[in-house]
Amino acid sequence: MKFFADTAEIDDIRKLAESGLLDGVTTNPSLVKKSGKDFLDVVREVASIVPGPVSAEVVAQDYDGMMREAEVLRKIAKNVAVKVPLTPDGLRTCKALSGDGTMVNVTLCFSANQALLAAKAGAAFISPFLGRLDDIGQPGIELIADIRIIYDNYDFPTEILAASIRHPIHVLEAAKLGADVMTAPPSVIWQLFKHPLTDSGLAAFTKDWESTGQRIA
Ligand code: G3P
Repeated sequence: MKFFADTAEIDDIRKLAESGLLDGVTTNPSLVKKSGKDFLDVVREVASIVPGPVSAEVVAQDYDGMMREAEVLRKIAKNVAVKVPLTPDGLRTCKALSGDGTMVNVTLCFSANQALLAAKAGAAFISPFLGRLDDIGQPGIELIADIRIIYDNYDFPTEILAASIRHPIHVLEAAKLGADVMTAPPSVIWQLFKHPLTDSGLAAFTKDWESTGQRIA
């Protein structure tokens, strides 16, 4: 499973990149607003830190506008994936860009039929939003299961990018169902490292080692 960071905070991205476990980054207009930074500067900087896909979202809602914005975004770096919404104009844009060799991440997916459409439009990634479905009382994880079945039935190469991940259980469930990628806030990715038995075990090993008076290096 690939790990993407869902953030526009440069410091957080640098720190995660140092872990060696970061495969890409996703941003959206709300995350850019939260960062308080210039959008194009953020995309430029992130794309230079992380070699993997960096999703940058268009804000126009019509085909011509999306194509104009995509032109700017995809010129920033080869690893920029243009993010478009799951609308008829968004998927038309997806089809045109994908046919041109540009990676497209189709976002705001809330149903398996929407994911089917995105795959047919040649999306590199489909982003089903788990947390936002949970928020309205619909188990988001079931959407991942349905999309996995559909994509496998037809050998669609579109990668399932589990998004709107809120906690480690979302990551676990998405991984068990075979999501290709998950994107999560940095805090959730760091949470994955944690286990109280790791902490207490390490403390015990350290104490015993120190009492031997030995050194390795
Ligand atoms: O990047 C899209 C998605 O991950 C948003 O998550 O928590 O705002 O629903 P959230």
